[in-house]
Amino acid sequence: MTPAEAHTRILFLRGVLERLNYAYYQMAQPQASDAEFDLLMKELLQLEKQFPQFFDPNSPSQRVGSDLNNNFASIPHSSPMLSLANVYSASEVRDFADRIARLLPQEPQYVCELKFDGVSVCVRYQDGQLHQALTRGDGLNGDDVTSNVRTVRSVPLRLLNCPLPQVEMRGEIILPHQAFQKMNDERQQNDKQPFANPRNAAAGTLKLVNPKETAKRGLANFAYALTGDALPFATHYDTLQAAQEWGFRVSEHIKLCHNIDEVLDYINYWDTHRHALPYDTDGVVIKVNSYAHQRALGSTSKTPRWAAAYKFAAQQAAARLLSISYQVGRTGAVTPVANLEAVELAGTIVKRASLHNAGQIEILDVRLGDTVWVEKGGEIIPKIVGVDHSRRPPDSKPLQYADHCPQCGAALVRPDGEARHYCPNEDACPPQIIGKIIHFIGRKAMNIEGLGEETIELFYQNGIIKDAADLYFIKKADILPLERIGGKSADNILQSIEKSKGTPFARVLFALGIRYVGESTAQKIVDHFPSLAALQAADTALLQTTDEVGEQVAGSICNFMHTPKNIALLDKLIRAGLQFESQPRQLASTALAGTTFVITGALSQPREAFKALIEQHGGRVSGSISGSVAFLLAGDKAGSKLQKARQLGVAVIDEEEFNRMLNKLTDGCQ
Ligand code: IVH
Repeated sequence: MTPAEAHTRILFLRGVLERLNYAYYQMAQPQASDAEFDLLMKELLQLEKQFPQFFDPNSPSQRVGSDLNNNFASIPHSSPMLSLANVYSASEVRDFADRIARLLPQEPQYVCELKFDGVSVCVRYQDGQLHQALTRGDGLNGDDVTSNVRTVRSVPLRLLNCPLPQVEMRGEIILPHQAFQKMNDERQQNDKQPFANPRNAAAGTLKLVNPKETAKRGLANFAYALTGDALPFATHYDTLQAAQEWGFRVSEHIKLCHNIDEVLDYINYWDTHRHALPYDTDGVVIKVNSYAHQRALGSTSKTPRWAAAYKFAAQQAAARLLSISYQVGRTGAVTPVANLEAVELAGTIVKRASLHNAGQIEILDVRLGDTVWVEKGGEIIPKIVGVDHSRRPPDSKPLQYADHCPQCGAALVRPDGEARHYCPNEDACPPQIIGKIIHFIGRKAMNIEGLGEETIELFYQNGIIKDAADLYFIKKADILPLERIGGKSADNILQSIEKSKGTPFARVLFALGIRYVGESTAQKIVDHFPSLAALQAADTALLQTTDEVGEQVAGSICNFMHTPKNIALLDKLIRAGLQFESQPRQLASTALAGTTFVITGALSQPREAFKALIEQHGGRVSGSISGSVAFLLAGDKAGSKLQKARQLGVAVIDEEEFNRMLNKLTDGCQ
C-alpha cells in the first residue's frame, strides 16, 4: 500500500468509526456489532502504526488514551465558570420565578434539565477539532485535562457540520453506576480504599496522570451549556438541539417548560424517577430559555440570576436497629454492618446498612433497639447517618463493640488513633486466609480461570489447601471426591493452575497480597528490583527509591519478606515453579546506567515523560535528593529540592542541558 492509499483508507476508517461512535454513544443506537467495530479499529490502528506521518490526536483510535502525556497546566477560562443558586422547595422555586418575572417584560420559557452529579468541564473546539478541555478549577482558571477528556467517548473529537469556528461547550463528566461498581470492585481487590460515590470517582479519574487508565474507567459526559457571545441561536434549547447534531451528548431528559407549573411537574416527576437512571443526579437545573432574557437578567459574581438548582432531599428512612454483624476482610479489617427492621428507601427494601467502624458508632452514639436514620445519597450502599434519640428505649445501654473476632475468636485490636478494629490472627482466621487466596487467583493477579470464591472455600473447608501455594500441589484425586467437581472440571482447574505458573513476576508480587502493594506499585517495584532475591535484600531506605513507595509501603514489604511464615510460602511458590524474576526490559541504550536523577519544577513535558526517557536509557529516577543522586533535572519554579541539591552538592541541570547530555551519551553508545 502506498502512503497515499494508506492515507485515503485511514481517513475513510476514521470517518466510519466516528459515525459508529456517534450512533452508539450520543444516540444510543448502535449501528454495528462490537466485533465489526473492533475489526475496523484494528485496521486503523495497524495503518496508523505503519504510517505514523498520518498521526492525528483526534483520531478515534486515540480514545484508548496515550501514555505519558498529561499536563495539568492551569489555564484561564474565557468567562468565569459560575455555580448555581440552590433552591430546596416548591415555594423557593416560585420565589425564583417571581424575582425573574419582576425583571422581565413577560413570563419567560424555562428549560429544565437534570443536575448531573459529577465534575464540570469545559471543552474547546477550533475549526471543529477538539482542542482543549479544562476543569472548573476555581471558576476563573481550570486544569488542562485534555488528554483524559479525549478518552471519554461521549465527548466528540471532531464536530459534524458545526458552522462555528470556535466552540466552547460546558458539561458534566460523570461515572455511571455500572462503571463505578466495577472500578470499586477492582480497587477493593487491589487493597485500595473504594471511592465513596461516583462523583468522587469521576473527579479522581479525571485527574489520573495516565490517560490509558482513564480510558478504561468508563467516564461519560453530558453537554449542558454552549458559551460565547455570538451564538447562532436565540435560545438555550435550540442550541442544545443543534449541539446534539454536531455530536455532543445532550441528555434526552431536557424539557422546554412554558410556565412554572410545568417546571414543578418536571421536578416532582424526577424526584421519584431519578432512582431508575443509570447515573447519579442530585437535582434539577432550571434555566431561562432565551439568551436575550439571560443577558437582561445578568449574573452576580457567583451565580447567574437566570438559573437555579433545585436540590432533591437525600432519601432517608427511619428503621429500628436489631443487631450488628461484623465482617472480616482479607487484611483482617473489621466492618460493622447494621441489621435493620426492613424499610423501603428510594424504591428498594433495605435491611442492612453500613456503620463504617467503631469510631463512627461512637460519634453517632448508636445503641441496639434505637431508631436510626438510614440514607441513600450518592453512595450505593445505604448508611446510618443519625439516631432519633427521642425514640430510644429507656433501658438501652451503650453498645458493646465486638472484642473478639466473630470468625476465629481472636481478641480484636484497634491501633492507636485508628477508628477501625483488626483481627490480628492472620494465620488462622478463615476469612483472612480464604480472602488472601481469592486475591491470589484474581484476574489481575495469577488469573487462575475456572477457580472462583466458592471453589476456594470448598477446597479450604475440605483441608485441600491452607494457603495459596498449596494450589500448585493439588492432585486430581484430591478434588475428585468433592461434591460439584466432576472429572472435566477437575482437569480444567488443574490446567489453569498450571498455566498460571507463567504469570510475570510483577503480577506474582501483586498476588501475594502484601498490604499497600497494589497492581501498579507492584509493577514499579519490579522495575527497580527485578528479582525476588533483589527485593529480599533491599532495606526500607532502598525500597523507597522506587516511585510510589513511601515509608508505609516499604515497611510493609520488608515486614512481609522477613516473616518466617511468608518465607516458607515463598519457598513453596518457588518450588512450584512461579516466576520470581522479571524478563529484562528492552533498553534504548545503557547510556544512563547507574545514574540516578531527581526531577523537579515545571518542564516542557510531564515528569513521567522524562522519567520514562531516563529509564529507557538505563537510568533511575528517585523521588528525593540524597547523596546517591547524580543530577537534579530542574524546571521552572523548582523549590525545596533545588535547595537541598545545592546543599548536598548534587549537579543541577535544566532541560536543555539534559537533552544535550543524553544526545551526546547516546551518540557513542548505541
Ligand atoms: S448549568 C452558569 N446544567 O452544577 C450555570 N450545571 O452548582 C452553569 N451541573 O458547576 C451550570 N448538571 O457542575 C448546569 N444540567 C446542568 C448541570 C449543571 C450539573 C453542575 C455543574 C455546576 C454545578 C452548579
